[in-house]
Amino acid sequence: MTIQWFPGHMTRAKRQIEEKLKLIDVVFELLDARIPQSSRNPMVDEITGTKPRLVLLNKADLADAEQTAEWSRYFRSKGLATHAIDANAGAGVKDLANKAKELLQEKIQRQINKGMKPRPIRALIIGIPNVGKSTLINRLAGRNIAVTGDRPGVTKGQQWIRFGGELELLDTPGILWPKFDDPVAGFRLAATGAIKEDVLHLDEVACFVLKVLVESYGSALKDRYGLEGLPSELPDMQAAIDVLESIGKRRGCIVSGGHVDYEKTATLLLRDLRSGKLGRMTLESPEFTD
Ligand code: G4P
Repeated sequence: MTIQWFPGHMTRAKRQIEEKLKLIDVVFELLDARIPQSSRNPMVDEITGTKPRLVLLNKADLADAEQTAEWSRYFRSKGLATHAIDANAGAGVKDLANKAKELLQEKIQRQINKGMKPRPIRALIIGIPNVGKSTLINRLAGRNIAVTGDRPGVTKGQQWIRFGGELELLDTPGILWPKFDDPVAGFRLAATGAIKEDVLHLDEVACFVLKVLVESYGSALKDRYGLEGLPSELPDMQAAIDVLESIGKRRGCIVSGGHVDYEKTATLLLRDLRSGKLGRMTLESPEFTD
């Protein structure tokens, strides 16, 4: 679903998260492991303030494992703990209670020193649309309870989901808005499906993707579409269009007159990328961040 975010929505979303923060001990900031920087809300530090936070690199099953390790190092260097998960299949999800405990170790120890029995850690999941918030909440709950369809400003009664006795989670996530002012981040968000196609031109998104794939995952691209003589980089848009055309020809995406149907080819490429058929891929590196 495409959401039109307006300043009023953002203010309301920020206020709603600030209200929820009063109820919880730890924030789980959900990012897309394929685009950890582009899937981050630009104001997340300001919004979460001093609340302990665990960065969850979700959809790790679709991301390049080496790059996920790089990103974890990057976030650690910024003082943020990270954990890679696959909310769909559940990989890494059962470690969440322990990861949260590690973050709150000192607080828990103080409670123990005072003779108090530590109560379950209360957590809130936050993230931009499509990053997997509902999937993770449903996985932790063991059933479908999360309200799907992110809409800023829609309030409803919230409840706690108990997970394994040590962790409690708010069933309504904090919904953040994506980056708008960085066009490259926009392409990455569109490539992974976080922004729907109608926001950007499909063939432009495909050309952006091809540039990244040719430079970082050339052999996977060659293998998937049987491409010959793929260059090691694409210096301009025309070079990317040439590769898109080759894929279209190989896959029979042809319109009358024998021309390549670029839109159909772009759809095919993006579907293959998003479903992991091209292999595990990460579309941005921490070395270019900051
Ligand atoms: P949201 O609440 O943050 O908006 O995201 P949601 O849970 O609805 O997840 C968005 C899509 O991402 C869903 O696909 C979901 O299955 C998928 N997803 C979530 N976590 C993971 C993960 O760890 N690995 C993989 N591979 N996929 C994950 P969908 O229902 O097909 O939606 P869409 O792709 O049609 O948007």
